[in-house]
Amino acid sequence: MDEDTDQKIFKYYQDRLWLLTTDSSQDDVIREYDEWAENYDQSMQEPNYHVPRPFARQFDATRGKLFPNIDKKNFKVLDVAAGTGLLGLELNKLGYQNIDALDMSQEMLNRARNKNIYKKCICAAMTDQRINGIETAEYDALTCSSAVCTTHVRPSAFEEMIEIVKPGGVLCFNISLVEEKSYEEKLNELENKGKWRLVLKEKIPYLREEHLEECHLYIYRRQ
Ligand SMILES: C[S@@+](CC[C@H](N)C(=O)[O-])C[C@H]1O[C@@H](n2cnc3c(N)ncnc32)[C@H](O)[C@@H]1O
Repeated sequence: MDEDTDQKIFKYYQDRLWLLTTDSSQDDVIREYDEWAENYDQSMQEPNYHVPRPFARQFDATRGKLFPNIDKKNFKVLDVAAGTGLLGLELNKLGYQNIDALDMSQEMLNRARNKNIYKKCICAAMTDQRINGIETAEYDALTCSSAVCTTHVRPSAFEEMIEIVKPGGVLCFNISLVEEKSYEEKLNELENKGKWRLVLKEKIPYLREEHLEECHLYIYRRQ
């Protein structure tokens, strides 16, 4: 595929995702990604999508500061909304070998499994409900790249995401600048309740898409 074709496929799915609303069902979202899965990696290369590399690098730097004595090979990460595994791949390149993937699109997850970087692939939706097969405080860290938006991983899912992480562990995710307003209240409420503490908030490049060129990367530490 040449760059022009990648750009057309990227634009086609971005336009379709914009048609989703908070009234759209999980099945509507799954349908989009099941269909996109085959061409996702190709169409989400730079310069269309920039997130996985700076996300993984910053996650690794922060982990190094907070857990200097833990071997990252064993650092247990749940990659939520892992998609085809683009973030997992970057984490793996940096030496992370104990990563599980969770995504609600089986087709996306099949591509992630084929990359042989995840130990376990869990097909489930991240919501405010418990997920079968995941223990409370099971993971050292939770990552979620480019899925914290109101049609995907909604603000109400955050309490449950925190539950999955060990006390002292970290949650790392990015939110586009245009979506941030919808999350501010929940993020602050959880901090005020003493559930987590903000460790880092940093601007990183996001998508080749008007108004979505940048996002904030957040790292919180579970209290
Ligand atoms: C834009 S892709 C991001 C994939 C990957 N993290 C990346 O950076 O390339 C969004 C992914 O989130 C998944 N997804 C959306 N909402 C979800 C939810 N509530 N629970 C689990 N997966 C979800 C979709 O199926 C899709 O694979």
